[in-house]
Amino acid sequence: MTKAVVLGAAGGIGQPLSLLLKVNPLITELGLYDIVNTPGVAADLSHIDSPAKVEGYLPPDDGLAKTLKGADIVVIPAGVPRKPGMTRDDLFKINAGIVRDLATGIAKTCPKAFVLVISNPVNSTVPVVVEVFKQHGVFDPKRIFGVTTLDVVRASTFVAEVIGDLAKAPSISVPVIGGHSGVTIVPLLSQSSQPLPSGYSQEQIAALTNRVQFGGDEVVKAKDGAGSATLSMAYAGAEFAEKVLRAVKGEKGIIAPSFVHLSADAAGGKAVQSEIGSTLDYFSARVELGPGGVEKIHPIGEVSEYEQGLIKAAVPELAKNIDAGNAFIHGSK
Ligand code: NAI
Repeated sequence: MTKAVVLGAAGGIGQPLSLLLKVNPLITELGLYDIVNTPGVAADLSHIDSPAKVEGYLPPDDGLAKTLKGADIVVIPAGVPRKPGMTRDDLFKINAGIVRDLATGIAKTCPKAFVLVISNPVNSTVPVVVEVFKQHGVFDPKRIFGVTTLDVVRASTFVAEVIGDLAKAPSISVPVIGGHSGVTIVPLLSQSSQPLPSGYSQEQIAALTNRVQFGGDEVVKAKDGAGSATLSMAYAGAEFAEKVLRAVKGEKGIIAPSFVHLSADAAGGKAVQSEIGSTLDYFSARVELGPGGVEKIHPIGEVSEYEQGLIKAAVPELAKNIDAGNAFIHGSK
């Protein structure tokens, strides 16, 4: 029996994400929570002939606790998305409050669940969840993840476009490390499983890197005021959730970049800190998943001089974002 929960399930990401989780055969129960429309979304999904039993709740009558009861994995896409001209950090004040309240519910009702944070800015909302869990004495760094999978998915797709063979996209793997906004997104194209075409210039590498870092802006601009990435994010979120669940079921060797507290694997975390020359508590590293969540944090490994520069630029920005998340909780007691 595996119960998955989506908080923010009626939203642009929440609905397609709930659909993808509903059709995932590893999931037997699906709880949906939002401040609007969840009974409708749940009724609609419940007609699909896949195993998961679906229930949807709204805030009245302890809806959050009812949704979370018995959850094994909780995915959080609740919050407001970007409009043109906004950065992810502009969302911070509203989304940090939403995430704090939802994290409080998780800490009280299902503290052992894996928590997958999608709500932006991820670099700050993950520290918000961690600090709430610490306040409730239930913090386990192995179980809290910031979902950066969309950056990884984009990197695979864009490299496949460069080589002119989209059919290869699913098998291309490009580690994307650091964090999840602007310059904190560091794609390691030098470690791509698919080499870039011979003669691919440094200018072209810089342009491709920039496209991965600011790929979200392409969507925000194209949607022209109607929000940010939803369908690709739902796909990425469902993919990461499935990896976590496969690892829980005992599958070995699943490695996925994710924004985690580096104490989740003390030795691995220290090694990453020494590679980045900083004592940051959080970093999106290549995380190996196991039955208890984070099993191992893999080293960054060999990077190009250009990528070393990207990491150097990411670190102070990440430190700022992490501090903002910590300060939000400790200033709002
Ligand atoms: P949306 O506005 O379409 O949906 C958000 C949903 O959250 C709405 O249904 C809203 O009613 C709900 N919500 C608001 N307050 C809530 C609360 N207190 N409890 C439960 N639900 C609540 O937004 P969208 O497009 O689905 O984006 C959601 C979040 O995901 C945004 O913060 C966005 O920036 C982020 N995002 C993250 C990405 C990533 O790679 N990690 C990629 C794309 C978006």
